[in-house]
Amino acid sequence: MHDIIRQLDTMRAQARLGGGERRIAAQHAKGKLTARERLELLLDRGSFEEWDMFVEHRSHDFGMDRDRVPGDGVVTGYGMINGRLVFVFSQDFTVFGGSLSEAHAEKICKIMDQALKVGAPVIGLNDSGGARIQEGVASLGGYAEVFQRNVVASGVIPQISLIMGPCAGGAVYSPAMTDFIFMVKDSSYMFVTGPEVVKTVTHEEVTAEELGGAVTHTTRSGVADLAFDSDVEAILMVRRLFNYLPLSNRERPPLRPSNDPADRLERSLDTLVPANPNQPYDMKELITKAVDDGEFYELAPDSARNIVIGFARMEGAPVGIVANQPLVLAGCLDIKSSIKAARFVRFCDAFGIPIVTFVDVPGFMPGTAQEYGGIIKHGAKLLYAYAECTVPKVTVITRKAYGGAYDVMSSKHLRGDVNFAWPSAEIAVMGPKGAVEIIFRDEKNDPAKISAREAEYREKFANPFIAGRRGYIDDVIMPHETRKRICRSLAMLRDKKVDNPWRKHGNIPL
Ligand code: HXC
Repeated sequence: MHDIIRQLDTMRAQARLGGGERRIAAQHAKGKLTARERLELLLDRGSFEEWDMFVEHRSHDFGMDRDRVPGDGVVTGYGMINGRLVFVFSQDFTVFGGSLSEAHAEKICKIMDQALKVGAPVIGLNDSGGARIQEGVASLGGYAEVFQRNVVASGVIPQISLIMGPCAGGAVYSPAMTDFIFMVKDSSYMFVTGPEVVKTVTHEEVTAEELGGAVTHTTRSGVADLAFDSDVEAILMVRRLFNYLPLSNRERPPLRPSNDPADRLERSLDTLVPANPNQPYDMKELITKAVDDGEFYELAPDSARNIVIGFARMEGAPVGIVANQPLVLAGCLDIKSSIKAARFVRFCDAFGIPIVTFVDVPGFMPGTAQEYGGIIKHGAKLLYAYAECTVPKVTVITRKAYGGAYDVMSSKHLRGDVNFAWPSAEIAVMGPKGAVEIIFRDEKNDPAKISAREAEYREKFANPFIAGRRGYIDDVIMPHETRKRICRSLAMLRDKKVDNPWRKHGNIPL
């Protein structure tokens, strides 16, 4: 018996060593943690239950039969984050560069299947050279098995990807189908084809970092949500994100009691909106003053900055915040912001997280770049997402809500449950200047007349009361009572139930 125990200890120690001391040192030299060190940080101390530590690849080609490492380049299992269950996989770059073999893929699939059965999220820590070259098509099959599970799990359990090393070729598509992607600056990258192939095909010279690094994907492409300076920072932020999410679509999001009074008044909000309608202000100030303890977990802060998305809590319960940002492009909706917000609205809807929308939107962005880029289809994504969504929806219009963008931004007509406006709200088909230029075209050469017409239009239409008279706005509220009114509305909506008619699935304009 003692011999077997000793043997087990030896085998475990061998598996824990992954690709060996030399490769672990190389990993550390790059400023990266090992697969196991990452899991230790991610999970509550002592909570990790490892599975499949003794799994090995089954390849014989290219001398692989003499080169087997227990665990085969990925550490899998389950554990806890703040006492809540989560399934994890962490690719071990020290073993065959973390490359994905058939057996490696089977390990990932096993925890994904189990996570779906019990209803718990999956967090994947990606650090891999891609398909295990020695295995060929078996490895490609393995990827597809993972992709299939990503799709089946989508909207059922939250899926989070941390990119902490290379992630290239078709391998990028598994993270791409998960709900959130975090990256680490200077040590992670994602691209479909690397710099060498790019150079050959398009003659562009670009580094891996420029092509698919954390900054590129959180600013230009919008593929990733957040970029961090180190593995440690990224992992700690995933733990914080996890606290907002339900374990599955069968559960309510977790409550975290707060001492912040639901009826707290914020007098400073009464002067947030400048008297001049063309002057911007920071919508994030309203968000942080309205939510519990000023805590706002912003996602994708550096891409499509004209719309702000993220999680916060109201009376302890998670909410998704969507807000136009007048500081950037005057808060216009364009292609990227529509896509960014639409995906977030759909995440919240899938997981029963109420949505609070703050509106100050002058309209959709004009121009050939937007039209040729398909703003019609992309803008429709946000419209579709809000219209399809059945979670509680509370909307506050702070200033502009013009044209189609008024409709899109969680309006009453898209089943907004509670729609408030501040007294400074301007709800109309278009801004006074544009409106007057069209309906009083004959007077366009007379600036005095035009400005009088503008004033008349503003007086008549650029206010919240016309919409209020029709019941499109449930109430015009004082800015300082915004938190109180949202909290009450969300409490009233707690047990809201609306079902869309049965269908296989809708056909969102992709
Ligand atoms: C097997 C691999 C491997 C792979 C790396 N290694 N990638 N082994 N299959 N795909 C091994 C290396 O041989 C090396 O082994 C160890 O991992 C570390 O690799 P290095 O090259 O020394 O590390 P580094 O210099 O940091 O470079 C990392 C890298 C590079 C950029 C990822 O290794 C690389 O370019 N690898 C090949 C990437 C690739 O082309 N993958 C296939 C993509 S196609 P030793 O024993 O020396 O430590 C794909 C399709 C997926 O993935 C399709 C899904 C549908």
